[in-house]
Amino acid sequence: MKELRVGMIGYGFMGRTHSNAYKRLTDFFPVQHKPVLKAVCARNAEKAKAFAENWGYERVETDWKKVVSSPDIDLIDIGSPNDTHFDIAIAAAKNGKMVVCEKPLAMDVKQAEKMVKAVESAKVPNMVWFNYRRVPSIALAKQLVDEGRVGKPFHYRATYLQDWTISPDVPQGGAGLWRLDAAVAGSGVTGDLLAHSIDTAMWLNGAITRVVAKTKTFVTKRKHAVSGKMQEVGIDDACMFLAEFANGSMGTFESTRYARGRKNFNTFELNGEDGSVYFDLEEPEYLQYFEYKQLQSGEKTESHVTGWRKIHTTNSEHPYMNRYWVPGTCIGYEHTFLNALADFVMGIESGKPTQPDFRNALQTQKVCDAVIKSAKTLRWVDTGVQL
Ligand SMILES: NC(=O)c1ccc[n+]([C@@H]2O[C@H](COP(=O)([O-])OP(=O)(O)OC[C@H]3O[C@@H](n4cnc5c(N)ncnc54)[C@H](O)[C@@H]3O)[C@@H](O)[C@H]2O)c1
Repeated sequence: MKELRVGMIGYGFMGRTHSNAYKRLTDFFPVQHKPVLKAVCARNAEKAKAFAENWGYERVETDWKKVVSSPDIDLIDIGSPNDTHFDIAIAAAKNGKMVVCEKPLAMDVKQAEKMVKAVESAKVPNMVWFNYRRVPSIALAKQLVDEGRVGKPFHYRATYLQDWTISPDVPQGGAGLWRLDAAVAGSGVTGDLLAHSIDTAMWLNGAITRVVAKTKTFVTKRKHAVSGKMQEVGIDDACMFLAEFANGSMGTFESTRYARGRKNFNTFELNGEDGSVYFDLEEPEYLQYFEYKQLQSGEKTESHVTGWRKIHTTNSEHPYMNRYWVPGTCIGYEHTFLNALADFVMGIESGKPTQPDFRNALQTQKVCDAVIKSAKTLRWVDTGVQL
């Protein structure tokens, strides 16, 4: 076993999911690298210390620059807010560290392009944590598409709905609510939620070539948690866009934080000539599949038994599931990060880098930027995506 010495930036939501993945990696996957939790970095030393004790990090830092330049660290994991990704990733790559970064890769395409250049010229392994690709049901959808079971695609339909910012009393900014502060988040639901939907869509259905979008900010002024002053809200609370794919199919994407009752409602459906697939994150262990069969001569339609299959994605033949329990038993949200980490480490070991790497995540960033640009001009915008 070789050591994979980790420097974790951020101890929040993603700090926890990633730390869990490092701790369980060698329990579930046959890899030759064992993660060692060397340092966790966050601005609040007390809280970081408590986190380090809980998860087993050897030390605590409050300045990420110290972590990215430490000789005893091999991999920098960026689990801090969006406006920090650029500086940390560039410095980590310059110091020859592997970099795994949370999504969205950057604040905009300009930053993302420089980040791609930095990791590629330093030749350091890199990945962006688009963990939904690692939900076994979504990975099965990819398998069905690749096996030709959906056939010529016509429609892609994605939704990503939440409801946690409806009250105008929710402040913006600060440690807890940076997602509402455009200066830190870059955008609202587009970079936060639609980035996931776009990544999944382009993985399953290829390049999005152009988009036309409409965004809405329902609450236009909120108190800033740091200054205490009422300030303009710069993020998009909701975003809907139409998309054209390079393969000739059409897409609709809808995202909001104002869908009362929806907590993390992430769905997609792909309709092709020979079949359709449908996924809903509220039932993540299922993939729904409709198979259309062309009748052979003499064959009769069996319409009374035609319908959607609800595939319980828990057999050992299903993606990732041979690493876990017996058929019929489920895995959870946290395993999507474990699966992603395993793919990354196996990529290092096999020499076949895992996806999405920074270059691939740059393509999603291009679509996000095109969506925001289109919402401003209300015109179709070419994305420039190159897959
Ligand atoms: N893959 C996913 O499904 C998913 C889910 C949630 C968040 N994210 C992404 O992960 C990132 C973090 O989100 P989160 O929900 O974990 O946020 P969070 O607010 O829960 O945690 C952010 C952490 O970053 C630390 N931090 C902030 N500024 C820092 C700095 N300058 N130096 C060092 N540490 C700093 C904070 O102290 C905190 O520990 C974001 O980019 C977000 O978009 C991805």
